Amino acid sequence: MERTLSSETLEKIDQKVKLLGWAATIRDHGKITFIDLRDRKGIVQCVGQNFPKVTPESVIEVEGTIVKRPENLVNKNIPTGEVEVKVEKITVLTKSTELPIPIDGDGLEIEEPARLKYRYLDLRRPRMSRNLRLRSRATMFIRNWLTERDFVEVETPILTKTTPEGARDFIVPSRLQPGKFYALPQSPQQYKQLLMVAGFERYFQVARCFRDEDPRADRAYGEFTQLDLEMSFVTQDDILKLTEELFTSLVKEVFPEKKVSTSPWPRISHKEAEEKYGNDKPDLRKDKNDKNELAFVWIVDFPLFTEQTKEDFFHGAGNAKWVPSHHMFTAPHIDDISLLDKDPSKVRGLQHDLVLNGYEVGGGSIRIHDPEIQKKIFDLIGFTSEQKREFEHMLTAFSFGVPPHGGIAPGIDRLLMVILGEPNLREVMAFPMTAGGTTAVMDAPSQPQDAQLKELNIKVTSK
Ligand code: AMO
Repeated sequence: MERTLSSETLEKIDQKVKLLGWAATIRDHGKITFIDLRDRKGIVQCVGQNFPKVTPESVIEVEGTIVKRPENLVNKNIPTGEVEVKVEKITVLTKSTELPIPIDGDGLEIEEPARLKYRYLDLRRPRMSRNLRLRSRATMFIRNWLTERDFVEVETPILTKTTPEGARDFIVPSRLQPGKFYALPQSPQQYKQLLMVAGFERYFQVARCFRDEDPRADRAYGEFTQLDLEMSFVTQDDILKLTEELFTSLVKEVFPEKKVSTSPWPRISHKEAEEKYGNDKPDLRKDKNDKNELAFVWIVDFPLFTEQTKEDFFHGAGNAKWVPSHHMFTAPHIDDISLLDKDPSKVRGLQHDLVLNGYEVGGGSIRIHDPEIQKKIFDLIGFTSEQKREFEHMLTAFSFGVPPHGGIAPGIDRLLMVILGEPNLREVMAFPMTAGGTTAVMDAPSQPQDAQLKELNIKVTSK
């Protein structure tokens, strides 16, 4: 017999069926036993007599007949509440021992290390399962929407060279070149610009980014995902409009219960945001108690540089008096170029931040495509000649016909966290790290074998 899913039971009244899934709850009333069978579509009640011993969360196969429930026994809380399965045969395929964490509530009251250690159980809870399913639908929507508009998804390397975005790099030792290391990308920034030189004109990638920085509720330690996007021959306005159209359609299609509060999205200068709201990511919701309100706002006209020394910018680059507000590939405002020599603090950058309900959910810019200006920026941020050599390939690439270009990278995790109203990023990630930098379930990092270290020419000295 073919398998029937719980969601299909309503259409199969009076038919014989076979269901497969987990025994979500078991109520044994002596003569008669009820089991809620859960599969990927939901749950359906199974009822019968003389069941073998079934423990909660065991995997079962149920054969029986679907019957309509009498009016007074209809369960309005579940979509299959009008029917139940009269069990003729029940088989325990695999038995579950007692779960270390409960999986019926929203889980937020459980200590997080336990949730992450048993993440595969934590993901059985309806809230987490729903979040990951919505995440999948959202990325699929984005992929289709962009592909229909001539964008090409290109995968860029993970084992690569440093691409500074203001955090520390993760580095990976090379066996073939002992003593040398790859860096994991903090973003695909340089590759996407190189793809513009290659003539793709419209690129995107659902890209994994790696950053060693202190975690916060809205900032993952280790890795997170960006919708990375780049376009040639565009103005800043083009990038803002495209992003706005994409996310407006996304909300309508995948999160129809959510309401975007102002359309078109307001655009506020960095200066105005600071003066009016005291920060550069204002929460412009009209009613902060409304969990379905989404207030998008663009912040533009950032200063190109901030003056304070960011200790961890590019490993404490040179004598960095000037640190890029966004990153070192962001173009200065065309009217401010002459100020680069006179007063860098006054130069505006063609940067744009996307803010949603008080969170920065995306950042991007028009890029520098003039090698001379790029060199000037390297000088202003205090790069040594050695550090400049690390980025020589960009200047070389730009000598072969580089189109004017720009882009943006919304953070997928952060965007979903805000849209779904979750308290932290980990609630929308399948296997996130703990705040202490340990991976879910598998407990990495771990100690390599001595032989591995030897092969890599690495000696670990204890601190
Ligand atoms: P930026 O560094 O501003 O820009 O990052 C863009 C967006 O990525 C998300 N994000 C994070 N999400 C979770 N955890 C983190 N640790 C984390 N860090 C960043 C945020 C942020 O707005 N290459 C540029 C983009 C560009 O210029 O096109 C970049 O990475 O939502």
